[in-house]
Order: sequence, then structure tokens, then C-alpha cells
Amino acid sequence: MKKTFRFSVLALSIVIGTSFIFTFCSKDDDTKTDADADQIAYDAADGIRGALLYDHVLNEKLVEDTKMTDQPNFFRCKSCHGWDLKGRTGVLIDKASSETYPEVADVNLVEEVRVNDGIREIFDAIKHTDGRDPSSGTYTATMPNFSTILTDADIWDLVKFIKETAHQTDDFYTLTTTGTYPNGTKSFSDIGKDGDAAAGLATYNAKCVSCHGADGSKINVYCKGIWLGNMFRDDPHEIQHKAIWGMPLDREHIAGGCTDAGAMSPTGITDDDVRNLMVMGQDTVAFPDYHE
Ligand code: HEC
Ligand code: HEC
Repeated sequence: MKKTFRFSVLALSIVIGTSFIFTFCSKDDDTKTDADADQIAYDAADGIRGALLYDHVLNEKLVEDTKMTDQPNFFRCKSCHGWDLKGRTGVLIDKASSETYPEVADVNLVEEVRVNDGIREIFDAIKHTDGRDPSSGTYTATMPNFSTILTDADIWDLVKFIKETAHQTDDFYTLTTTGTYPNGTKSFSDIGKDGDAAAGLATYNAKCVSCHGADGSKINVYCKGIWLGNMFRDDPHEIQHKAIWGMPLDREHIAGGCTDAGAMSPTGITDDDVRNLMVMGQDTVAFPDYHE
């Protein structure tokens, strides 16, 4: 009797003690481990790869499903959020939706989300498991469920792009807007800010001339009558992105028979280099508009 009692007390205290340790320590450990794992994944992520995914998820991942590739704008981050990440208040203020273009998202990824959200919140928002089914063949403004297209490592690359790699485009040009989406207007000024044209030309000759030619006319972008000169003046929002991070293989225009189309690897230039190139590119004699 005595022996059994002592044994039970001992057994009970072991059980309680163990579960106490288990409950409290494991809770702490779990929370700590999750946050640590997130931080480790984030630290290992590549924001430049994130830039390529942001440009064109389907081309960067070489997705083949025609339910997606037939309507790429409904899957490209930049189509709903803008090259400047500013959504409806940025460069997409005048971009109405159509059969081939989604309604623009009413959220500012660079001035709100980057500032207010933690890496886990951004990760979950991009994974968006309750979003539009990518293989459903429905094309709406609802952000797709990217969990079936992107791996967790891909998503961390995008989190890093949004959180730190992406530019605050106000550092590269001034965007002036009037009105509200989708009936607003926009104009660019002060393109390249206080950049230096001569320094820009030196960078151009070192890093761009071999493919784009001395006056920017060697590649007819998309075979649509666009030389680099046009882009420096009309599309600084796209220049600030692609001049540094390049672009994934342009499968649409290659499939359309454009032999100038291709891929462009990240160039490794700096933000200052981009501003210098932008100022250089305002010269319509050195970098003319497209002509036959
Ligand atoms: C078809 C349009 C569409 C596409 C494509 C799209 N999004 Fe979105 N995204 C939205 C909409 C709409 C919202 C929700 C805005 C809201 O109502 O808060 C959103 C929300 C987000 C948010 C959360 C913002 C917040 O409020 O916390 C992030 C982050 C985000 N998108 C990143 C991306 C990334 C990265 C991609 C590409 C992999 C992408 N989106 C592709 C439409 C899109
Ligand atoms: C190895 C060749 C190569 C080099 C070097 C190169 N590019 Fe490109 N670039 C391309 C190709 C190919 C395209 C894709 C054209 C297409 O598919 O329409 C492109 C596209 C672009 C575009 C985007 C056009 C668009 O709207 O899609 C910009 C902007 C651009 N290049 C700027 C630059 C700048 C600035 C440099 C130097 C810092 C540079 N490139 C260096 C080959 C190159």
C-alpha cells in the first residue's frame, strides 16, 4: 500500500513535471523556431531574382499551362501593382481594365506594405492560398493563388524584393498625376534626377552598347517600334527596373516571330548608374526616337 502510494506520487509528479516542461518550453521553442526559420529563409533570399519574378512570374518559371500563358497580365505582379509598386496612385493611374488587362490593385506595396508589414505577412499575402485558381481559366482582378506556381523559396525572393530591393521610384524621376484611377493622367519630369550624362554614356558603352547599339537602335523592343531612346523618355518607370535587373525570357514576342526579343540578365549597375543613364537618354540626337 505504502509502496504503491509512493510510486503513484512519484509517477504523477513525473507526468506533471514533464508535461509542464513540455508545454511551456515547447511553446517557446515553436514560436522562436518559426520566426527564426522565416528570418533564415528571408536572409537567404535573392531580391534580384524576386525582381524577375515580379516582372513576369510565368516566363521566369517557364510555366506551360495555356490557361495562364494566354493571359499573362492576370498573373504578372507588375500588371496589377505597377513597375513602381504604387498600384492605382502610381503609373497605372490611367490604365483601365480590359479583356487582356486586370483592374489595378488598390494597395501601395512600397509606401504601405513595405513599411507596415512583417516578412511573414508579406509571404502569406503573396502565397495567397485562397486566391483565384490559376488553372481555372477565369481572369479577374483577384490576386491569384500563387502557391501552385511558386515555391516557398520563390516567394521569399519576392518578399525580399518588396521589402528592400525594389526602388522608391521618386528617387529616379518625378511622377505627376491628376484625377483618380482609371481616369487619371500622368506625366514624368526630372527623369534621372541629378544624374550625369557623361558618366551615363561611360556606363552605357561598358554595359549596354554591345546589345543595344551606339544610339539604342540595335534592338527594336518587342518589334513594336521602340528603341531605348523612346524608353528613356517615355517609360522611365520600366527603365528603373529593367536597366538593373534585366528581364526573363520574352516568350510571347519570340513566339510572335520577333527575332529582337530575348532575355536580359541583371546588369549589376548601381542606382546612380541608372540615374546617369536616364539623363544621358534624354538626348534625342544621341538616342533618337524609333524610325524606319
Ligand atoms: C490580377 C491582379 C494581381 C496580380 C497578378 C497580383 N496581385 Fe497582389 N494583390 C492584388 C489585389 C487586388 C490585392 C489586394 C489589395 C487589397 O484589397 O488589399 C493584392 C494584394 C497583394 C499584397 C498584400 C497587400 C496588403 O494589403 O498587405 C501583396 C504583398 C501582393 N499583392 C504582392 C503581389 C505579388 C508579389 C504578385 C506577383 C507574384 C502579385 N501580388 C500579383 C492583385 C494582384
Ligand atoms: C547581352 C545583351 C544585352 C545587354 C548587355 C543589355 N541588354 Fe537590354 N535587352 C536585351 C534584350 C535581348 C532585351 C529584350 C528585348 C525584348 O525581348 O523585347 C533587352 C531589353 C531591355 C529593356 C526593356 C525593353 C522592354 O520594354 O522590355 C531595357 C530598358 C534595356 N534592355 C536596357 C538595357 C540597359 C540600360 C543596358 C545596360 C545597362 C542593357 N539593356 C544591357 C539585351 C541586352
